[in-house]
Amino acid sequence: PPLWSVVNVAGFEKVAKRYLSPTGWAYYAGGAEDEVSLMDTGRLFRMITFRPRILRRVEPVSTAVKILGFPSSLPIYISPTGSGRYAYPNAESVLARAAGKEGVVYCMPTTAAHESVFEARSSPDQPLFFQLYTTRKQTKALAMIKKLKALGAGALFLTVDSPVLSRRERDEQAKVTETPGVSSGDLKWIQQATSMPLILKGVQTVEDAVLAYDHGIQGIVLSNHGGRSLDTAQAPIITLLEIRKHAPHLLAAGIRDKFQVFIDGGFRRGTDVLKALALGASAVGIGRPFLYSMTAGYGEAGAVRLLQMFRAEIETNMALAGATAIEELVPEMVNSERAESE
Ligand code: FNR
Repeated sequence: PPLWSVVNVAGFEKVAKRYLSPTGWAYYAGGAEDEVSLMDTGRLFRMITFRPRILRRVEPVSTAVKILGFPSSLPIYISPTGSGRYAYPNAESVLARAAGKEGVVYCMPTTAAHESVFEARSSPDQPLFFQLYTTRKQTKALAMIKKLKALGAGALFLTVDSPVLSRRERDEQAKVTETPGVSSGDLKWIQQATSMPLILKGVQTVEDAVLAYDHGIQGIVLSNHGGRSLDTAQAPIITLLEIRKHAPHLLAAGIRDKFQVFIDGGFRRGTDVLKALALGASAVGIGRPFLYSMTAGYGEAGAVRLLQMFRAEIETNMALAGATAIEELVPEMVNSERAESE
């Protein structure tokens, strides 16, 4: 279908389901076991409602934020996802280029062809982050950190929610294979090995959020790996509410130059993003939709269109909620009582 006829994330998902191979669709769309965590996020976003303010001046709207000190034109970034090749050849380079065009950050996965992704940048100062699994052998991990540092990576996202391979039954049936690894609970060697910001991706409780902050980590991603790791693990938005309640100092505007809280999993609408920002998140990661956006031969044009869709939704709905800048998205703008009493 012509790209203009795809008008939202759900549209890209429909196209992807039709055009991906059965293996590709199983790998991208699937979650762990009964896929309860995977399905839960949409329900929770719908349960949180807006409390829009009226009769404010709502033009112009700025959607700009800083992510770990790097300017971003939108409060979203592209999450790391492996096996992009099912969607489009050299998918990671394509995403880097799309991100550069629209002024957002792309976090490439461990498995990316890192050098080519850096070559795809639209300018040498386009920020690129990279993701590493804790399951990597220490020597391999150190070599990769060194290489990425030399290439100019802006931050290291260390994925901590998958110490062992999870149970994804759609993958089992479609015969997708992944390499197992052994986890390491010790982060000191990684902290010592890198001078770039270190972000823990996959924090799922307020307890671990506080530990990360106390250990001098520069940020966390509240994430359950898009429902692909421990099934029935609580939704990241619930973890954000936990932090609001029990450790609000982690979300204070005043500490964002040294610690930021990001979130991902199931964000499909600008309004979903705005709710997390109002509740204190600094930016939102988007995974599957970017894979879907490159299918059907769309490639870079699809990923750019997806970013523009998010831009339009975020801008318009900010104005409708009564905010002209991301800092104006405050907890009073949403009613999260029903989600909190879950
Ligand atoms: C992922 N995710 C992921 N995370 C990571 O740290 N390293 C990786 O290599 C991958 N690979 C990967 C592949 C695929 C196909 C998916 C769908 C996800 C998780 C990803 O970064 C992110 O946490 C979730 O995808 C966010 O949820 P949504 O936006 O996909 O719902």
